[in-house]
Amino acid sequence: MDFKTQLAGAGGLAALAADALLVLVVGDTLPGGLDQPLAELLAAAVKDGDFELKSGKTLYAHRVAGVKAPRVAFVATGDGAVKSVRKAMVTGLGLLKGGGGKQLAVAVAGGGELGAAHGEALAGAVGEALYLYRETKPSAPPASKLHAVSLVCAKTEVAAVAAGLKRGEAIAAGATLARECANRPGNHCTPTYLAAQAKKLGKEYGFKVEVLDRKDCEKLGMGSFLSVAQGSDEPPRFIVARWQGAGKADAPVVLVGKGITFDTGGISIKPAAGMDEMKFDMGGAASVLGTLRAVAQLGAKVNLIGIIPTCENMPGGRAIKPGDVVTSMSGQTIEILNTDAEGRLILCDALTYAERFKPAVVVDIATLTGACVVALGHHRSGLFSADDALAAELLSAGEQALDPAWRLPLDEEYDEELKSNFADVANVGSRDGGAILAAMFLKRFTGKLRWAHLDIAGSAWNSGKAKGATGRPVPLLTHFVLSRAQ
Ligand code: BES
Ligand code: MN
Ligand code: ZN
Repeated sequence: MDFKTQLAGAGGLAALAADALLVLVVGDTLPGGLDQPLAELLAAAVKDGDFELKSGKTLYAHRVAGVKAPRVAFVATGDGAVKSVRKAMVTGLGLLKGGGGKQLAVAVAGGGELGAAHGEALAGAVGEALYLYRETKPSAPPASKLHAVSLVCAKTEVAAVAAGLKRGEAIAAGATLARECANRPGNHCTPTYLAAQAKKLGKEYGFKVEVLDRKDCEKLGMGSFLSVAQGSDEPPRFIVARWQGAGKADAPVVLVGKGITFDTGGISIKPAAGMDEMKFDMGGAASVLGTLRAVAQLGAKVNLIGIIPTCENMPGGRAIKPGDVVTSMSGQTIEILNTDAEGRLILCDALTYAERFKPAVVVDIATLTGACVVALGHHRSGLFSADDALAAELLSAGEQALDPAWRLPLDEEYDEELKSNFADVANVGSRDGGAILAAMFLKRFTGKLRWAHLDIAGSAWNSGKAKGATGRPVPLLTHFVLSRAQ
């Protein structure tokens, strides 16, 4: 997709050279400043009861007299917040993407000044609206003909909007990559596939990728990670990707992504209904790859390391059993009371491994608990950190990226539940506060690290008719990493 800014020029929107024109109407009164043919069309549609100035309402018109663009769509945004404008952009793109238009011009009527956030929103909306999974579905409808999108703005807004479009394009490409990985079924997206994907990305975008196999992990003493992998015939991989955008001495940001390519629950097996969705259990890993891509594409002056422990969680003759005790890379022993709490078992060794990079901060990203979905639903990801400043940074990145998170507690009182008579720690406690207990477990493996944990069990994919990966939290993570760049 080709993203540009476009000046309205003397003729206004009506004279704009484009195949399709999308006008986002801010506010609940008819906007001033529209050219006569568009203003008249809008006023008449409102008067006739065919369009309302209410969020989400749409109007499509074809070959309007006096308007150069043959296709015109109006979408009401409600208020002028970037979030509302983005939502209206997605709706408008939905109206226009299937048509014959190749170049789309998008204009905002009745709002305030346009800035980088609007450019970023448009690129993100295009990525969201035009994505379609086709890898294993030959019957999927053909791709949209749209190949150029511009945001109409004033001369004084061009620089900021263009910068926003560039950033948004990189984030959208990262999110699309994450969606592509996560949507692939478990028999396609294996640990081996993820490792190959990481290598390929590294070559393309200029970062180093090292892939450790089972033997390498054994040597490192990753007894917890390997205990999950041992139930499957699919070989595990431990992926380490390094983007060096800043000086060698600059402490890196480390992202650790949960890469369970399929979670059956293991011997503590999950119920059959909806189990297919456990192919999305590598959403954290996918978001790490997507963020690396976005950051590298932008050439950000920051050091970023992505760590992905990846394997399947399967029942089998060699699988771990409830009550088994394993020794983690940190030396702490773990009593596995529930083999379905496997995410924390692979992440704890990855967190220990992360220490060698002397990171500035470490953030792990994981589809970790059903309890987080119960607590927060699907809109906000769960955020955990004992570090107030780091938590504030991540929350703010989420707000700016329109990919929001919500902080949950990590009080030491919760830790009581993870005590075991047979090991240093148990991998589960009671059901209550399950998302917090999972985070408390991880915290035991973070030592002196500045660490935060994102539970994306509710935000990484949609269920139901629109079942599919969302690409979250690539926008949050990219904003976070960029805010730490020089
Ligand atoms: N991958 C799941 C978490 C999950 C479940 C995400 C449902 C999204 C929807 C994780 O490995 C898991 O199974 N967690 C258990 C933990 C429990 C055994 C303490 C859970 O949430 O039920
Ligand atoms: Mn599980
Ligand atoms: Zn899982």
